[in-house]
Amino acid sequence: MKRRVFSGIQPSGHLHLGNYIGAIRNWLANLDSRDNIFCVVDQHAITVDYDPDALREGTRQAVALYMACGLDPAQCRLFVQSHIPEHTELAWLLTCITPMGWLERMTQFKERVGPRRERVGTGLFAYPTLMAADILLYQTHEVPVGDDQKQHVELTRDIAERFNHKFGEVLTVPEPVIPQVGARIMGLDDPMAKMSKSATGHHHSVALLDSPDKVRKTIMRAVTDSQQGIVCDPQRPGLYNLLTIYQALTGLGHAEIETHFAGKGYGDLKKELAEVVIAEIEPIQARYRELTADPAYIDEVLATGVERLRPVVDATMDAVRRAMGHR
Ligand code: TYM
Repeated sequence: MKRRVFSGIQPSGHLHLGNYIGAIRNWLANLDSRDNIFCVVDQHAITVDYDPDALREGTRQAVALYMACGLDPAQCRLFVQSHIPEHTELAWLLTCITPMGWLERMTQFKERVGPRRERVGTGLFAYPTLMAADILLYQTHEVPVGDDQKQHVELTRDIAERFNHKFGEVLTVPEPVIPQVGARIMGLDDPMAKMSKSATGHHHSVALLDSPDKVRKTIMRAVTDSQQGIVCDPQRPGLYNLLTIYQALTGLGHAEIETHFAGKGYGDLKKELAEVVIAEIEPIQARYRELTADPAYIDEVLATGVERLRPVVDATMDAVRRAMGHR
């Protein structure tokens, strides 16, 4: 039996290099040796203000991008969260066994809510229980995510253990899988802030669908410092972030990178990095254009994904409903 992998991305805004390096590339790395399930989590995207038409469009774009990046439907089950209503059913059941204190400790909630605490929807607070439901519904072993989602996967483990303790061994306790390089790509306009889909700065991120010209402009303007020399030093966060992206995409080690750039300056690094990024995303963009030219194919992939997930969804929910006294 192959170990089961589950992961997902919110379709809110354009997928960027952080999502690609922190998540998608690590899903691709083990496709052959795992039982793969990848989801576009459109119900997480409604926990903040949003536009329904943009959500519809963004969800299809994300599915096409998954495939364009190399997630072959023959090797994984691809689907949209809202197409399987059991995600929200299980989320409610798990919400009822999740203490408020556990959710209050979630750093992502604290960061996102800031002073607006009294006004945000309760969905934003309960968001990690929906994420736990996504993962636990499929009896998942491994959850490959970036560093910012690690705490949510650890909470999912706690919820699964609590469920099993209260109601009997029903749920598989999953493990987070965090990449060695690129688990937290920072904003190109501000290396102290995580690269994020919701940031508004024009030169904040590189989206997977950005034109070569836009990629060059964004990377050439990346914020660094006024020091000299190209060294892999985390104390120089702007430079370190560029080198991390370079390292993740070329596979070179720190020593090789430092030798390669010996005697060169920031401008040289930025120029070369832009070309490395463009070479990585151009084939993705070409496949994306082909895939989106045939919307019926995307619908078919999504319908097949749901059909192939039905047996595991029914089995988990049957066991959960019985264990909790609903059957
Ligand atoms: P989301 O949509 O914010 O991000 C999707 C994936 O990309 C990773 N990521 C990053 N990695 C490195 N550097 C960055 N700057 C960066 N920004 C994002 C994230 O860690 C994530 O792996 N709650 C999740 C989506 C979700 C999910 C799930 C994930 C819902 N249910 C079940 C796994 C399993 C989220 O908002 O990710």
